[in-house]
Amino acid sequence: MGNTCTKARSEDGKTISDPGQLGANSDINSDENELMLKTTSNYEDTVDDHGQANPNRNADENIEENELTSMLKCMHHRIDQLIDVKELMHREMMKGLSKDTHNTADVKMYPTYVRATPDGTESGDFLALDIGGTNLRVLYVHISDKVVKQIAETRHEIKDLKKVTGIQLFDYVAERLAEFMEKNGLKEKTLPLGFTFSFPYVQKGLTSATLTAWSKDFEVSGVEGEDVYVLLQEAIKRRGDISVNVLAVINDTTGTLMSCAFEHHDCVAGLILGTGTNACYIEKLENVDIWDGDTLPPQQIIINTEWGAFGDRDADGNGGVLEHLITEYDDEINRSTVNDGKHIFEKMTSGMYLGEIVRLILVKLTKAGVIFNGNITDDLETKWIFKTKYISYIEEDTSVNNEACKSIFKKFGLEIKDEDCEKVKTVCSAVSSRAAKLLSAGIAAIVCQVGRKEVICGVDGSLYKYHPNIKTIMAETTKLLAPFMTVQYVESSDGSGRGAAIVAAVAQRLKK
Ligand code: GLC
Repeated sequence: MGNTCTKARSEDGKTISDPGQLGANSDINSDENELMLKTTSNYEDTVDDHGQANPNRNADENIEENELTSMLKCMHHRIDQLIDVKELMHREMMKGLSKDTHNTADVKMYPTYVRATPDGTESGDFLALDIGGTNLRVLYVHISDKVVKQIAETRHEIKDLKKVTGIQLFDYVAERLAEFMEKNGLKEKTLPLGFTFSFPYVQKGLTSATLTAWSKDFEVSGVEGEDVYVLLQEAIKRRGDISVNVLAVINDTTGTLMSCAFEHHDCVAGLILGTGTNACYIEKLENVDIWDGDTLPPQQIIINTEWGAFGDRDADGNGGVLEHLITEYDDEINRSTVNDGKHIFEKMTSGMYLGEIVRLILVKLTKAGVIFNGNITDDLETKWIFKTKYISYIEEDTSVNNEACKSIFKKFGLEIKDEDCEKVKTVCSAVSSRAAKLLSAGIAAIVCQVGRKEVICGVDGSLYKYHPNIKTIMAETTKLLAPFMTVQYVESSDGSGRGAAIVAAVAQRLKK
């Protein structure tokens, strides 16, 4: 199964180059590459190649900068460490695909039952429901002549629904759907619907999705172990005033891949970097040992990796494969979430968590007197107050007087100086670039498994779209980690909404 992506490990645990994939890249550990992997931020201004303080700075500054850089050292991974992450990710992917090792794999590699990509002949009116980590969206979409046109959309924040019961959640969803149909004159119709549900589940078909565990801090009761397709149908039935034909339950990564494939037929992977993170790709059926469906053409299937769980600890809290890279801040994040020890990779890389990691570092720096004159406010000590979008605002702010940064901290009761802003920016960029590099290692593992020279990966998610540097860091790092492949990241427009309608349209075409 698979190819030669995974390098052999020597007994001392160090990786040995595999000539087929990585060996020829023997200079990958070179200083030049290490330098290229560093962030484009002011981190480089303050440290030399080995993370030492720049001797050109004056002595006083160096005392503080040393503390800053040494505190951020744990966020900076060398290229050999990233290669290792790529290897480990690939190994977990292979374990996930194999019947014998699936149960113990971190990366579950769920077959999605989406086997065919759009061929451009799809047409009709479709509804889409999209439940992700932040919003519930309802969409009405028209597909014809290779164009997907969104006719209407509503969006509802669901942060207050994270701890309700399954019945309450799905009744809410059905109510918003009914409202939407009423408003758009669709109540008398029975339209096909694609349902994007972006949490981990096992599928037995396109219309079956048994939730294995909640992620993204959801803990809605009575849903784990249940089929969310059935829960949605039951909620619709309880109302009795609308009728829809749910054709598919899909993950947002699948939606992103399909939405991208609508325009780029060669798209083989989908990546989400938003509240959470996950990736999917098209795998050959012969490589999917856990597949027990039919083997009719096309002999391929979209695999939902659920890579957010990469590095997970076991039930007793024993460390997983990423333990050597986990920082005290990541540990703290784990303790503050409902699924301590789970979805480790996601917690190191995605939008729900990066802001909080930055806040934890800032609190530590303040307490050490390195920033903010040592002044700590109650706001700054409030968990989750520092949103990941602030990281983007701060990193993209090039104004001489650091307006964005100052105004954010003003909200937390702090009047901060320009030199503090520079340090905050350094922290933000260390955290965001660690995420970008770890994600690139994951993508490198996927493209290596795909084994094509050129790979198009559709991407969606607010962190990817709105962060000023993540795209560039990912493009550069992927190039280093998958040197024999050309990976093109293509932003997919509304993968989870439009994508659900497209999957429904493909399913409808195949039924005809
Ligand atoms: C979480 C979910 C996964 C989803 C991702 C991005 O990791 O478990 O299903 O794709 O978030 O939304």
